[in-house]
Amino acid sequence: MAFFEWDDSIALGIPTIDQQHKAIFDWINTLNEAIKSDDSSEAVGEVIWGLISYVTEHFSEEERLMLSCNYPDLIVHRTEHDNFVSRLREIQVEFIGGQEVGASVLDFMVHWLVCHIKGTDQGYNRFIQQQAEKR
Ligand SMILES: [Fe+2]
Repeated sequence: MAFFEWDDSIALGIPTIDQQHKAIFDWINTLNEAIKSDDSSEAVGEVIWGLISYVTEHFSEEERLMLSCNYPDLIVHRTEHDNFVSRLREIQVEFIGGQEVGASVLDFMVHWLVCHIKGTDQGYNRFIQQQAEKR
């Protein structure tokens, strides 16, 4: 069973963004499998690298979207993104230093993402919908 199962309660209704959010959870599930299946630390390291790259790219796309519609809370939103990426990079450095990636790390990632999507991402989603209704 996957570490995290996607469901519609965290869908924004923006197909490209929802697809990217699903892909991030897929990366976390892949990381969980790599850790559990006794893959080499090189393989686990590659998944961590892939996860960080994907998340960074996704955050840039969200920020471009917010910028394109003059979303007023972009700075606050971007700070949340930056803090999460910083934490992921710390996890990566700890892993390279020999620390295991345990369930608490995966729990942190899933919990952060679900809270962020349901709270902060819904903020720009509502704003975009309101702007569309005004037209
Ligand atoms: Fe976001």
